[in-house]
Amino acid sequence: MDPLNLFNADRQRARDAEDPMAHLCTVANVDDLGRAQMRTLVLRDVDGQLAVFVNATSPKWTHLQTHATLQTYWPSVQVQYRMQVSTAAVAQTTVHESWHLRPDAPKKMDWFYEQHAHQSSQIGSRDALLAQLEEVVPPEPMQAPDNARGLLLHPVEVERLDLTQANGVHDRQRFKLVDAQWQVDTLVP
Ligand SMILES: Cc1cc2nc3c(=O)[nH]c(=O)nc-3n(C[C@H](O)[C@H](O)[C@H](O)COP(=O)(O)O)c2cc1C
Repeated sequence: MDPLNLFNADRQRARDAEDPMAHLCTVANVDDLGRAQMRTLVLRDVDGQLAVFVNATSPKWTHLQTHATLQTYWPSVQVQYRMQVSTAAVAQTTVHESWHLRPDAPKKMDWFYEQHAHQSSQIGSRDALLAQLEEVVPPEPMQAPDNARGLLLHPVEVERLDLTQANGVHDRQRFKLVDAQWQVDTLVP
């Protein structure tokens, strides 16, 4: 059984329930100092594969190059997923097409990262940020900078925790990809 089918079905139930978390995930990595770094990202679907869109000027781009940890929880259906994923770059043509659908402010921020300061770098103040943002000169016609990137997330281990059991004992299963086959184990919840 491919756990991604389960994931997609659970996520669809969350979407149907208008769960505000249904389009989000938490992505974690370990930084150069051995500390866990987590952030909320929009979880996208690129040709049937899980993906996130990020900016390559952030340190996370380097840290997420080969591997990441992903977590979702949808309160509407009370299901948590935790995944170990290998990562691969989304084709830049796909990233750029999708980039045009972004609102104006994030588009301008991507050019700010290119022309003024990298994402997640320190800046003097919010006033300084807004003043420098005014100086950003995006190209005409508008296009995505090279720093706009995407990562495909390929699950290699998936853990599903379902809180909705009638007897109150949570259902916890782990799926591991071994020799291209998914192995399923039950874990103590
Ligand atoms: C609801 C929500 C959605 C977000 N979606 C994204 C996203 O899709 N891509 C992204 O780079 N940052 C997104 N962010 C911002 C990240 O959480 C984070 O602040 C930013 O990427 C910088 O993180 P870093 O210092 O780890 O690079 C989102 C934040 C929130 C609260």
